[in-house]
Amino acid sequence: MTDVRSVLKDAYDLTPSAELAASMSDIYARMDRVVTPPDFAIYAPYIKAINELKAKRNAVILAHNYMTPEIYHGIADVVGDSLQLAIEAAKVEADVIVQCGVHFMAETSKILSPSKTVLMPDMEAGCSLAESITAAGIEEMRAKYPGAPVVTYVNTTAEVKAASDICCTSSNAAQIVAALDSDTIIMTPDQYLAQNIANQVPEKNVVWWEGSCIVHEQYTAQDINDFREWNPGTRIIAHPECPPDVVEASDFSGSTSGIIDYVTRERPEKAMLVTECSMASNIADNLPDVDFVGPCNMCPYMKKITLEKVLYSLHTMTGQIEVDPAVADKAREAVQRMIDLSKKLGL
Ligand code: 13P
Ligand code: SF4
Repeated sequence: MTDVRSVLKDAYDLTPSAELAASMSDIYARMDRVVTPPDFAIYAPYIKAINELKAKRNAVILAHNYMTPEIYHGIADVVGDSLQLAIEAAKVEADVIVQCGVHFMAETSKILSPSKTVLMPDMEAGCSLAESITAAGIEEMRAKYPGAPVVTYVNTTAEVKAASDICCTSSNAAQIVAALDSDTIIMTPDQYLAQNIANQVPEKNVVWWEGSCIVHEQYTAQDINDFREWNPGTRIIAHPECPPDVVEASDFSGSTSGIIDYVTRERPEKAMLVTECSMASNIADNLPDVDFVGPCNMCPYMKKITLEKVLYSLHTMTGQIEVDPAVADKAREAVQRMIDLSKKLGL
Protein backbone atom coordinates (compact mmCIF):
# COMPACT_ATOMS: atom_id res chain seq x y z
CA MET A 1 0.00 0.00 0.00
CA THR A 2 2.93 2.33 0.73
CA ASP A 3 4.06 1.79 -2.85
CA VAL A 4 0.55 2.59 -4.14
CA ARG A 5 0.55 5.84 -2.15
CA SER A 6 3.99 6.94 -3.33
CA VAL A 7 3.23 6.16 -6.99
CA LEU A 8 0.00 8.15 -6.82
CA LYS A 9 1.58 11.00 -4.85
CA ASP A 10 4.14 11.51 -7.61
CA ALA A 11 1.48 11.66 -10.31
CA TYR A 12 -1.48 13.47 -8.73
CA ASP A 13 -2.25 16.11 -6.13
CA LEU A 14 -4.44 14.11 -3.77
CA THR A 15 -4.42 16.54 -0.86
CA PRO A 16 -7.89 16.82 0.74
CA SER A 17 -9.46 20.02 -0.54
CA ALA A 18 -12.66 21.70 0.61
CA GLU A 19 -12.32 24.08 -2.34
CA LEU A 20 -12.18 21.27 -4.89
CA ALA A 21 -15.05 19.53 -3.07
CA ALA A 22 -17.12 22.73 -3.37
CA SER A 23 -16.48 22.82 -7.12
CA MET A 24 -17.87 19.26 -7.35
CA SER A 25 -21.13 20.01 -5.56
CA ASP A 26 -23.18 18.26 -8.28
CA ILE A 27 -21.44 14.96 -7.47
CA TYR A 28 -21.60 15.58 -3.72
CA ALA A 29 -25.36 16.21 -3.92
CA ARG A 30 -25.83 12.52 -4.80
CA MET A 31 -24.36 11.38 -1.47
CA ASP A 32 -24.70 14.29 0.96
CA ARG A 33 -27.09 12.37 3.21
CA VAL A 34 -24.48 9.70 3.92
CA VAL A 35 -21.04 11.29 3.32
CA THR A 36 -19.85 14.17 5.52
CA PRO A 37 -18.25 17.29 3.93
CA PRO A 38 -14.80 16.53 5.44
CA ASP A 39 -14.94 13.01 4.02
CA PHE A 40 -15.96 14.33 0.60
CA ALA A 41 -13.00 16.75 0.72
CA ILE A 42 -10.79 13.65 1.03
CA TYR A 43 -12.56 11.82 -1.82
CA ALA A 44 -12.83 14.77 -4.24
CA PRO A 45 -9.22 14.72 -5.59
CA TYR A 46 -9.48 10.97 -6.23
CA ILE A 47 -12.87 11.28 -7.92
CA LYS A 48 -11.54 14.07 -10.16
CA ALA A 49 -8.36 12.16 -11.06
CA ILE A 50 -10.24 8.93 -11.80
CA ASN A 51 -12.87 10.63 -13.95
CA GLU A 52 -10.18 12.43 -15.99
CA LEU A 53 -8.11 9.28 -16.39
CA LYS A 54 -11.18 7.29 -17.42
CA ALA A 55 -11.72 9.61 -20.37
CA LYS A 56 -8.01 9.41 -21.32
CA ARG A 57 -8.00 5.60 -21.27
CA ASN A 58 -11.44 5.22 -22.89
CA ALA A 59 -12.50 3.23 -19.84
CA VAL A 60 -15.84 2.54 -18.22
CA ILE A 61 -16.40 1.71 -14.60
CA LEU A 62 -18.96 -0.99 -13.85
CA ALA A 63 -19.89 -0.87 -10.17
CA HIS A 64 -21.97 -3.29 -8.15
CA ASN A 65 -24.71 -2.01 -5.85
CA TYR A 66 -22.53 -2.97 -2.84
CA MET A 67 -19.82 -0.42 -3.64
CA THR A 68 -19.38 2.51 -1.22
CA PRO A 69 -21.23 5.77 -2.09
CA GLU A 70 -18.08 7.61 -3.22
CA ILE A 71 -17.50 4.89 -5.83
CA TYR A 72 -21.16 4.31 -6.68
CA HIS A 73 -22.02 8.01 -7.11
CA GLY A 74 -18.58 9.49 -7.72
CA ILE A 75 -16.93 7.44 -10.47
CA ALA A 76 -19.23 4.67 -11.75
CA ASP A 77 -20.58 4.79 -15.31
CA VAL A 78 -22.92 1.86 -14.80
CA VAL A 79 -24.26 0.57 -11.49
CA GLY A 80 -26.41 -2.46 -10.96
CA ASP A 81 -26.89 -6.00 -9.76
CA SER A 82 -24.91 -8.97 -11.08
CA LEU A 83 -27.22 -9.53 -14.06
CA GLN A 84 -27.26 -5.88 -15.12
CA LEU A 85 -23.46 -5.66 -14.90
CA ALA A 86 -23.04 -8.84 -16.98
CA ILE A 87 -25.43 -7.54 -19.65
CA GLU A 88 -23.56 -4.23 -19.75
CA ALA A 89 -20.14 -5.95 -19.94
CA ALA A 90 -21.29 -7.81 -23.06
CA LYS A 91 -22.17 -4.63 -24.94
CA VAL A 92 -19.82 -1.99 -23.57
CA GLU A 93 -17.84 -0.15 -26.26
CA ALA A 94 -14.88 1.17 -24.29
CA ASP A 95 -11.32 -0.23 -24.51
CA VAL A 96 -11.06 -0.80 -20.77
CA ILE A 97 -13.53 -2.02 -18.15
CA VAL A 98 -12.73 -1.27 -14.51
CA GLN A 99 -14.75 -3.64 -12.36
CA CYS A 100 -15.73 -2.20 -9.02
CA GLY A 101 -17.03 -5.34 -7.40
CA VAL A 102 -15.48 -8.71 -6.70
CA HIS A 103 -13.24 -11.01 -8.74
CA PHE A 104 -15.95 -13.22 -10.25
CA MET A 105 -17.66 -10.12 -11.65
CA ALA A 106 -14.46 -9.01 -13.38
CA GLU A 107 -13.97 -12.51 -14.72
CA THR A 108 -17.53 -12.51 -16.08
CA SER A 109 -16.81 -9.20 -17.83
CA LYS A 110 -13.65 -10.65 -19.39
CA ILE A 111 -15.53 -13.76 -20.50
CA LEU A 112 -18.18 -11.62 -22.19
CA SER A 113 -15.75 -9.03 -23.61
CA PRO A 114 -12.54 -10.99 -24.27
CA SER A 115 -10.95 -8.34 -26.48
CA LYS A 116 -11.20 -5.67 -23.76
CA THR A 117 -8.79 -4.99 -20.95
CA VAL A 118 -10.61 -5.73 -17.69
CA LEU A 119 -9.08 -4.27 -14.55
CA MET A 120 -9.67 -5.53 -11.04
CA PRO A 121 -8.49 -2.90 -8.51
CA ASP A 122 -7.82 -5.57 -5.87
CA MET A 123 -7.26 -9.19 -6.88
CA GLU A 124 -7.97 -10.25 -3.27
CA ALA A 125 -11.62 -9.20 -3.54
CA GLY A 126 -13.05 -12.71 -3.57
CA CYS A 127 -16.40 -14.19 -2.51
CA SER A 128 -17.23 -16.96 -0.03
CA LEU A 129 -19.62 -18.49 -2.56
CA ALA A 130 -17.05 -18.54 -5.37
CA GLU A 131 -14.54 -20.11 -2.97
CA SER A 132 -16.97 -22.85 -1.91
CA ILE A 133 -16.94 -24.89 -5.12
CA THR A 134 -14.61 -26.09 -7.88
CA ALA A 135 -15.34 -27.74 -11.24
CA ALA A 136 -14.85 -31.10 -9.45
CA GLY A 137 -17.80 -30.19 -7.21
CA ILE A 138 -20.01 -29.73 -10.25
CA GLU A 139 -18.99 -33.19 -11.52
CA GLU A 140 -19.75 -34.63 -8.07
CA MET A 141 -23.29 -33.21 -8.27
CA ARG A 142 -23.74 -34.53 -11.82
CA ALA A 143 -22.70 -38.01 -10.66
CA LYS A 144 -25.22 -37.82 -7.78
CA TYR A 145 -28.10 -36.59 -9.96
CA PRO A 146 -27.47 -38.00 -13.44
CA GLY A 147 -29.11 -36.07 -16.27
CA ALA A 148 -30.15 -33.09 -14.12
CA PRO A 149 -29.10 -29.70 -15.53
CA VAL A 150 -26.67 -27.61 -13.48
CA VAL A 151 -27.74 -24.03 -12.82
CA THR A 152 -24.78 -22.12 -11.41
CA TYR A 153 -24.92 -18.77 -9.70
CA VAL A 154 -22.65 -16.19 -11.35
CA ASN A 155 -20.81 -15.94 -7.99
CA THR A 156 -18.36 -18.63 -9.19
CA THR A 157 -15.04 -18.94 -11.02
CA ALA A 158 -14.81 -19.27 -14.80
CA GLU A 159 -13.89 -22.98 -14.41
CA VAL A 160 -17.07 -23.65 -12.45
CA LYS A 161 -19.20 -21.75 -14.97
CA ALA A 162 -17.51 -23.72 -17.78
CA ALA A 163 -18.54 -26.98 -16.11
CA SER A 164 -22.18 -25.85 -15.75
CA ASP A 165 -25.13 -25.83 -18.17
CA ILE A 166 -26.47 -22.36 -17.47
CA CYS A 167 -25.77 -19.52 -15.06
CA CYS A 168 -28.25 -17.53 -13.01
CA THR A 169 -28.27 -14.49 -10.75
CA SER A 170 -30.59 -13.74 -7.87
CA SER A 171 -32.82 -11.71 -10.19
CA ASN A 172 -33.53 -14.52 -12.68
CA ALA A 173 -32.91 -17.78 -10.79
CA ALA A 174 -36.58 -18.65 -10.18
CA GLN A 175 -37.57 -18.06 -13.80
CA ILE A 176 -34.58 -19.99 -15.16
CA VAL A 177 -35.22 -22.96 -12.89
CA ALA A 178 -38.93 -22.94 -13.84
CA ALA A 179 -38.10 -22.76 -17.56
CA LEU A 180 -35.70 -25.73 -17.68
CA ASP A 181 -37.03 -28.96 -19.11
CA SER A 182 -36.20 -31.27 -16.19
CA ASP A 183 -37.92 -32.24 -12.95
CA THR A 184 -34.67 -32.23 -10.96
CA ILE A 185 -32.46 -29.15 -11.09
CA ILE A 186 -29.00 -28.89 -9.54
CA MET A 187 -28.30 -25.41 -8.14
CA THR A 188 -24.80 -24.40 -7.11
CA PRO A 189 -23.16 -23.09 -5.01
CA ASP A 190 -25.56 -21.14 -2.75
CA GLN A 191 -27.66 -23.48 -0.60
CA TYR A 192 -29.90 -20.65 0.62
CA LEU A 193 -30.61 -19.16 -2.79
CA ALA A 194 -31.43 -22.71 -3.94
CA GLN A 195 -33.76 -23.32 -0.98
CA ASN A 196 -35.52 -20.00 -1.57
CA ILE A 197 -35.95 -20.87 -5.25
CA ALA A 198 -37.20 -24.35 -4.31
CA ASN A 199 -39.93 -22.63 -2.26
CA GLN A 200 -40.80 -20.35 -5.17
CA VAL A 201 -40.85 -23.14 -7.78
CA PRO A 202 -42.39 -26.08 -5.89
CA GLU A 203 -43.00 -28.09 -9.05
CA LYS A 204 -39.24 -28.68 -9.40
CA ASN A 205 -37.03 -30.92 -7.28
CA VAL A 206 -34.20 -28.47 -6.56
CA VAL A 207 -31.01 -29.97 -5.10
CA TRP A 208 -28.08 -27.86 -4.00
CA TRP A 209 -24.43 -27.46 -3.11
CA GLU A 210 -23.75 -26.38 0.49
CA GLY A 211 -22.09 -22.99 -0.13
CA SER A 212 -23.22 -19.74 1.49
CA CYS A 213 -22.57 -16.02 1.51
CA ILE A 214 -20.81 -14.82 4.66
CA VAL A 215 -22.82 -11.59 4.63
CA HIS A 216 -26.31 -13.04 4.35
CA GLU A 217 -25.93 -16.31 6.27
CA GLN A 218 -25.45 -14.32 9.49
CA TYR A 219 -29.05 -13.14 9.65
CA THR A 220 -31.57 -15.21 11.59
CA ALA A 221 -35.37 -15.20 11.63
CA GLN A 222 -35.09 -14.28 15.31
CA ASP A 223 -33.18 -11.09 14.31
CA ILE A 224 -35.98 -10.14 11.94
CA ASN A 225 -38.78 -10.87 14.40
CA ASP A 226 -36.99 -9.07 17.27
CA PHE A 227 -36.39 -6.03 15.08
CA ARG A 228 -40.01 -5.96 13.95
CA GLU A 229 -41.18 -6.04 17.55
CA TRP A 230 -38.73 -3.33 18.61
CA ASN A 231 -39.44 -1.05 15.65
CA PRO A 232 -42.98 -1.74 14.41
CA GLY A 233 -43.96 -0.49 10.98
CA THR A 234 -40.52 -1.17 9.46
CA ARG A 235 -40.64 -2.74 6.00
CA ILE A 236 -38.12 -5.59 6.06
CA ILE A 237 -36.51 -6.54 2.76
CA ALA A 238 -34.13 -9.48 2.45
CA HIS A 239 -31.74 -10.66 -0.25
CA PRO A 240 -32.40 -14.29 -1.35
CA GLU A 241 -28.88 -15.32 -0.25
CA CYS A 242 -30.37 -15.18 3.30
CA PRO A 243 -31.65 -18.43 4.88
CA PRO A 244 -35.26 -19.25 3.87
CA ASP A 245 -36.72 -18.56 7.33
CA VAL A 246 -35.23 -15.04 7.16
CA VAL A 247 -36.81 -14.50 3.73
CA GLU A 248 -40.09 -15.86 5.06
CA ALA A 249 -40.02 -13.48 8.06
CA SER A 250 -39.40 -10.51 5.72
CA ASP A 251 -41.88 -8.48 3.65
CA PHE A 252 -40.07 -8.79 0.33
CA SER A 253 -37.07 -10.55 -1.15
CA GLY A 254 -35.16 -9.68 -4.30
CA SER A 255 -31.78 -9.14 -5.93
CA THR A 256 -29.99 -5.92 -5.05
CA SER A 257 -31.72 -4.15 -7.96
CA GLY A 258 -35.00 -5.81 -7.04
CA ILE A 259 -34.60 -4.33 -3.55
CA ILE A 260 -33.86 -0.86 -4.95
CA ASP A 261 -36.89 -1.04 -7.28
CA TYR A 262 -39.12 -2.20 -4.44
CA VAL A 263 -38.11 0.58 -2.01
CA THR A 264 -38.28 3.19 -4.79
CA ARG A 265 -41.77 2.06 -5.74
CA GLU A 266 -43.20 1.45 -2.26
CA ARG A 267 -41.56 4.34 -0.37
CA PRO A 268 -42.02 2.82 3.10
CA GLU A 269 -41.56 5.26 5.96
CA LYS A 270 -38.98 2.96 7.53
CA ALA A 271 -37.02 0.23 5.74
CA MET A 272 -34.55 -2.36 6.92
CA LEU A 273 -32.42 -3.84 4.13
CA VAL A 274 -31.31 -7.31 5.16
CA THR A 275 -28.17 -7.27 3.05
CA GLU A 276 -24.82 -5.50 2.57
CA CYS A 277 -24.49 -2.09 4.28
CA SER A 278 -23.74 0.07 1.21
CA MET A 279 -27.13 -0.70 -0.33
CA ALA A 280 -29.02 1.66 1.96
CA SER A 281 -26.28 4.32 1.76
CA ASN A 282 -26.37 4.33 -2.04
CA ILE A 283 -30.10 4.93 -2.33
CA ALA A 284 -30.57 7.19 0.71
CA ASP A 285 -30.17 10.46 -1.22
CA ASN A 286 -32.67 9.47 -3.91
CA LEU A 287 -35.21 8.49 -1.27
CA PRO A 288 -35.12 11.26 1.35
CA ASP A 289 -38.57 10.27 2.62
CA VAL A 290 -37.41 6.75 3.57
CA ASP A 291 -35.72 6.20 6.93
CA PHE A 292 -33.25 3.31 6.63
CA VAL A 293 -33.08 1.56 9.98
CA GLY A 294 -31.66 -1.58 11.53
CA PRO A 295 -28.43 -3.49 11.30
CA CYS A 296 -26.66 -4.47 8.09
CA ASN A 297 -23.60 -6.61 7.37
CA MET A 298 -20.45 -5.54 5.58
CA CYS A 299 -18.94 -7.68 2.78
CA PRO A 300 -15.18 -7.65 3.47
CA TYR A 301 -14.48 -8.57 -0.15
CA MET A 302 -16.54 -5.78 -1.70
CA LYS A 303 -15.02 -3.33 0.76
CA LYS A 304 -11.52 -4.06 -0.57
CA ILE A 305 -12.32 -1.80 -3.52
CA THR A 306 -11.41 1.82 -2.74
CA LEU A 307 -10.94 5.01 -4.75
CA GLU A 308 -7.20 4.77 -4.16
CA LYS A 309 -6.99 1.26 -5.60
CA VAL A 310 -9.17 2.18 -8.58
CA LEU A 311 -6.92 5.14 -9.38
CA TYR A 312 -3.77 3.02 -9.02
CA SER A 313 -5.13 0.25 -11.20
CA LEU A 314 -6.20 2.64 -13.97
CA HIS A 315 -2.97 4.69 -13.69
CA THR A 316 -0.64 1.69 -13.89
CA MET A 317 -3.00 -0.60 -15.84
CA THR A 318 -2.31 -3.33 -13.29
CA GLY A 319 -4.78 -5.91 -12.09
CA GLN A 320 -5.64 -7.15 -15.58
CA ILE A 321 -7.95 -10.15 -15.63
CA GLU A 322 -6.92 -13.10 -17.82
CA VAL A 323 -9.06 -16.17 -18.43
CA ASP A 324 -7.81 -19.22 -20.32
CA PRO A 325 -9.55 -18.88 -23.74
CA ALA A 326 -10.75 -22.51 -23.76
CA VAL A 327 -12.29 -22.09 -20.29
CA ALA A 328 -13.69 -18.69 -21.26
CA ASP A 329 -15.39 -20.16 -24.35
CA LYS A 330 -17.19 -22.80 -22.27
CA ALA A 331 -18.03 -20.36 -19.47
CA ARG A 332 -19.36 -17.85 -22.02
CA GLU A 333 -21.85 -20.45 -23.25
CA ALA A 334 -23.30 -20.82 -19.73
CA VAL A 335 -23.44 -17.05 -19.13
CA GLN A 336 -24.81 -16.31 -22.60
CA ARG A 337 -27.52 -18.97 -22.17
CA MET A 338 -28.58 -17.13 -19.02
CA ILE A 339 -28.63 -13.74 -20.77
CA ASP A 340 -30.54 -15.14 -23.79
CA LEU A 341 -33.08 -16.99 -21.64
CA SER A 342 -33.58 -13.92 -19.43
CA LYS A 343 -34.29 -11.83 -22.52
CA LYS A 344 -36.66 -14.48 -23.89
CA LEU A 345 -38.50 -14.54 -20.55
CA GLY A 346 -38.77 -10.74 -20.64
CA LEU A 347 -36.58 -10.18 -17.56
P1 13P B 1 -27.11 -9.33 -6.87
O1 13P B 1 -26.62 -7.94 -7.06
O2 13P B 1 -27.21 -10.02 -8.19
O3 13P B 1 -28.37 -9.37 -6.10
O4 13P B 1 -25.99 -10.13 -6.04
C1 13P B 1 -25.72 -9.89 -4.72
C2 13P B 1 -24.36 -10.31 -4.33
O5 13P B 1 -24.13 -10.76 -3.25
C3 13P B 1 -23.29 -10.12 -5.26
O6 13P B 1 -22.11 -10.53 -4.71
FE1 SF4 C 1 -19.84 -12.97 -2.09
FE2 SF4 C 1 -21.67 -12.44 -0.26
FE3 SF4 C 1 -19.73 -10.70 -0.64
FE4 SF4 C 1 -21.63 -11.02 -2.53
S1 SF4 C 1 -21.90 -10.24 -0.47
S2 SF4 C 1 -19.41 -10.93 -2.84
S3 SF4 C 1 -22.07 -13.19 -2.31
S4 SF4 C 1 -19.49 -12.81 0.11
